[in-house]
Amino acid sequence: MNRVVLAEGIDWVGVVDWNIRDFHGYVTRRGTTYNAYLIQDEKNALVDTVKHTFANELLQKICALMDPAKIDYIIVNHVEIDHSGSLPIIAKYAKNATIIASARGKDAIIEHYGSDFRIEVVKTGDELKLGKRTLRFIEAPMLHWPDSMFTYVVEDKILMPNDAFGQHLATSARFDDEVNENVLMEEAKTYYANILMPLAPLITRKLEEVTQLGIPIAMIAPSHGVIWRANPAKIIHAYADWSAGAGKNKVVIVYDTMWGSTDRMARAIAEGAASQGVEVKVLKLRAADLTEALTEILDAKAVVVGSPTLNNGMFPTISAFLTYAVGLKPKGKLWSFFGSYGWGGGAVRSMTEMAQKAGFQIHETNIEVKYVPDQEDLKKCFELGQQIAARTKA
Ligand code: FEO
Repeated sequence: MNRVVLAEGIDWVGVVDWNIRDFHGYVTRRGTTYNAYLIQDEKNALVDTVKHTFANELLQKICALMDPAKIDYIIVNHVEIDHSGSLPIIAKYAKNATIIASARGKDAIIEHYGSDFRIEVVKTGDELKLGKRTLRFIEAPMLHWPDSMFTYVVEDKILMPNDAFGQHLATSARFDDEVNENVLMEEAKTYYANILMPLAPLITRKLEEVTQLGIPIAMIAPSHGVIWRANPAKIIHAYADWSAGAGKNKVVIVYDTMWGSTDRMARAIAEGAASQGVEVKVLKLRAADLTEALTEILDAKAVVVGSPTLNNGMFPTISAFLTYAVGLKPKGKLWSFFGSYGWGGGAVRSMTEMAQKAGFQIHETNIEVKYVPDQEDLKKCFELGQQIAARTKA
């Protein structure tokens, strides 16, 4: 086994899930990893486990380094099953281990796996002496489950924040300086947009809290993707920007179409917006997926959504998109709606009502066209694109 050493006595013992493409609905086109870390000292600690289908691989990696019966602590930073799924199996081999979790982590472990475990509850500031090393715990409720917490290795200045700062990126490399930086930041952004975006206010506060704690961070070892050792500040700054909702002059047009009318309108709106010199992204929702759409929206200032009317309402793909977008609560975007219909209409009204209910800021001009847009309709679409772009620059 090739050892992956973070620092003396601290090994990565995680697994690479090369082939996963659907992570509870999130399109993971580059796969993912489930990271676990083994710390060997006078007392030995395993920080997190992996998805249950990879339990044997985790066990083999531990066995290559030490007898799992000598694990004293299993730190459960987060109980979602991609990280705790192997806990029941590992606990059978690490039969002397005490599980360390937050109070709500303890409840969640019992609710998932039963009460046949020895669990010690920790809270922010609590420390666990392993020997030369000290583990300090920082509760991070709702980042992104109530049970979530971070583990900090004091002497090595390594933060193990579980899901935070992760990326769904399967690779043979384990560190940020070993992978393409653009790919890494793209996957980190996709991960933030699709998992953490609704938690932006909590992230801002948690970053402030960690700054106030004054803990130096030499390395961030998340539970998915590569470890930030070359430049951990880069991902911290990116999170600060994303959680502040700092959009750029960018318009995202998301739409679907039945017979091409809404498609023609989308293209005219895109031309109008591009004529104002802003960045434009056009995503048809049977070519692009929701994961990509929300990633593009994260750093945009405006979103224009188009739907044909089907059965007096919006097209199902658009309905799914808006349901997903409302849940992720994108901050500070300007929304506008357009579409086509055959007789009664209804898609634009349905989309607008949904956005109003979600508290989205809505541009006053929404366009709905009967059957096929003529030149006058397309001119109005072009002008809508211009207006939206102008407002992103205002
Ligand atoms: Fe990677 Fe919230 O689990």
